[in-house]
Formats: sequence, C-alpha cells, structure tokens
Amino acid sequence: GIYLQGMLQGTRPEITTDLGRLESQAAGKLSAEAMGYIVPSAGSGATARANLAAFDRWRLVPRMLRGSTERDLSCTILGTPMPAPVLIAPIGVQTLAHPDGELATARAADALGLTYTHSTQASHAFEQIEASSKWYQLYWPTDRDVCLSFLQRAKAGGYGVLVVTLDTGTLGWRPADLDRGFLPFLKGEGLANYFSDPAFQAKLVKPVAEDPAAAVMHWAQMFPNVGLSWDELSFLRDNWDAPIVLKGITSVDDAKLAAENGVDGIVVSNHGGRQVDGAIASLDALPAIAEAVGEQLTVLFDSGVRTGADAAKALALGAKAVLLGRPLMYGLALAGQAGVEHVLRCFLAELDLTLALSGYANHRELNRDSLVRA
Ligand code: FNR
Repeated sequence: GIYLQGMLQGTRPEITTDLGRLESQAAGKLSAEAMGYIVPSAGSGATARANLAAFDRWRLVPRMLRGSTERDLSCTILGTPMPAPVLIAPIGVQTLAHPDGELATARAADALGLTYTHSTQASHAFEQIEASSKWYQLYWPTDRDVCLSFLQRAKAGGYGVLVVTLDTGTLGWRPADLDRGFLPFLKGEGLANYFSDPAFQAKLVKPVAEDPAAAVMHWAQMFPNVGLSWDELSFLRDNWDAPIVLKGITSVDDAKLAAENGVDGIVVSNHGGRQVDGAIASLDALPAIAEAVGEQLTVLFDSGVRTGADAAKALALGAKAVLLGRPLMYGLALAGQAGVEHVLRCFLAELDLTLALSGYANHRELNRDSLVRA
C-alpha cells in the first residue's frame, strides 16, 4: 500500500517506517522534560543499551520453498484473543507525549484489535478508556483499601488480566529526570486513577481540587512499596478472579517462584532499562526462563523490542507474545492516535513479512532452530 501510494499519488508516509528512527523523529515534537522522562533509562543507560544489543546477537535463519503464502498470527493469550502476539505495554503519564495520552493509545490498539494495558500511573482514569480488549497493570500501593478499590474498578471496567509490576517498588536512579528536578507525578500528572478513586479520596483531609499538593504528597506516601514479598501474592489471588501476570522477572529462580505461587504468567522485562542500571538484558534472560517455566506459565516479553524482526526473535526464544513500549510513545508524540496506529501497523506488517520471508505460516512454528547466536 505504501509503495502504491508513492507510485500513484507521489505521497510518502509522514512518519518514518524505520521503527529504529522513530525516537529521533519524535524528539522534534517533545519538550525536553518529556524526552527526558520517556527516552532515557536508569543510571548510565547500560541496561537499555544491553536490551538493544542482545537482539543483535541473535540472527534469524530464513527457510526457503516452504509455501508460506497464508500467515496466521492470531492467538489466545490468557484467555484474550489477539490478531497477533503483540500487546501494548503499560506506560504511565502518556499526556507527556500527547494531550490525548492513553485515550489515543487505547483507541489505536482497538482499531487494530490489539490489547491495551492500562497503567496505574496513567493520565486518564480506568473508566475513561475505550477499548474492547484491556488489561490492567497494578503498581501495588502500600494502602490496601486503595489497592482493593483499584482491583474492583479494573474488574468493573472490563479489564481482563491483572499485570502486577514488581520491578518498580520505587523509581530507579534516573539522572535525566534528577538533573531537571522533574517528576511528572509530583506535578499531579499521571495520578488520574488515584485522584478519581473513592478509597484514595476518603483518606484526604480536603478534596483533591481544594488541595492538590496534599493529594500528591499522599500519593507519594503510598506509591513506593519495596517491602512486598511472595507471601503477599495471596492477597491478589483472593481479590482478583481472573489471570494474574507478574511483570519484571529476569531471574530463573523468580520465574520458578512465580510458578510455585500460582500465578498464570510472567513478563520477562527489565522495564526498558529504567530501573536497575547494569542489569541483565531482558532478551538474555528469556531463553533460560522459557525453558524452566514455559510449560507452566505464559511467558511474555518486553524491553528493547523495536522491530517485527525483534518480535520474531523473542517468540523464537520462547515468548508467547511481546509488549511494545517506547516506540508507541514516539508514534503518540508524532501524531496522537494516528501515530500509534502507524507504529503498530508497521510493526505488525514487518513481523508478518519476516515470517513470510523466513518460511513460516504461523508464529508458533518459530523455535530455537529458527535462530543462530551471532
Ligand atoms: C514505562 N513502563 C511502565 N511499566 C509499568 O508496568 N507501568 C508503568 O506505568 C510504566 N511506565 C512507563 C513509562 C515510560 C515512559 C516507559 C518508557 C516505560 C515500562 C514498560 O511497560 C515496558 O516494560 C518498557 O517500555 C519496555 O522497554 P522498551 O521496549 O520501551 O525499551
């Protein structure tokens, strides 16, 4: 379609189709503070660089003459039907990228039939999100009433799977934000779920509108939650009657503990390198984890996925689906909902082409023999 438009109408896509170049294109649209929050990572950036470099160490080995005319990428992940093994990663405070924020991202996902994951730190509340397939990402607040209320609102809002992010008991050391003294949440951004929450409101002396600064400080007391332990997962199992996924697993031992503790899935992820500097690349963690628990748990993957070929590699190394993160924020910054849709369409098209040209009719055929280590 893009080639035909170029030939017949002389038009070119407004946003690059080179998903690796989105970041530099989006940089022109974003404020220094927004760029500083979205793009950089923890510390020296070593983990984020390692995430990307890890993909380059694996190479696909295309097979020929296998009749892959018709591809079928559809799948069902934890009871959620999907047109392709691709999900929208939970990303907070999306109004930093575009005024429409999560509303635009959710609509873009919906337009393609993909599943949107709603962050606890979103700029829009649960109830505002319009998408037919939604999951909810929990940052487990220290306040149990608020936690319960979030679970109830997610359930009432039709969010199908609970994704519990474990790697962010508190924020990592992020020099780009520290040097600017900028944290969106302390400006009241990304707190829509809290500010609209009855259990949260009940704990405030004055309503949010009358004393927003006090409401922000109240959030700041309940967000950092580094004291959680495996025993406490039973609280979630008792209060959430649908699948539970633990996000932020990179250790084989933790993956086994997740299985022992009766959750349904994990996301192998290091939060895009935003938490522990010098941590293992997410893709380097994937093969051993998939081998250890892939039969018992649904293993999902993120951190460093930029292209359709990256997705094919992660699927070949044992992931059942991948979550897309930063590239969607670049699309959002460039053109709101249309920009997110553009990125998703390019990503899905490249994944489909990669399969076709490598001789696969189905992403489930990808396996360790589909790759070599370079
Ligand atoms: C995130 N991520 C994230 N994760 C989460 O569980 N809850 C959240 O609120 C956020 N917020 C957030 C904001 C921004 C700006 C970014 C870039 C990331 C992490 C996200 O879900 C995912 O793990 C990473 O984005 C994957 O890394 P890449 O592919 O973006 O490098």
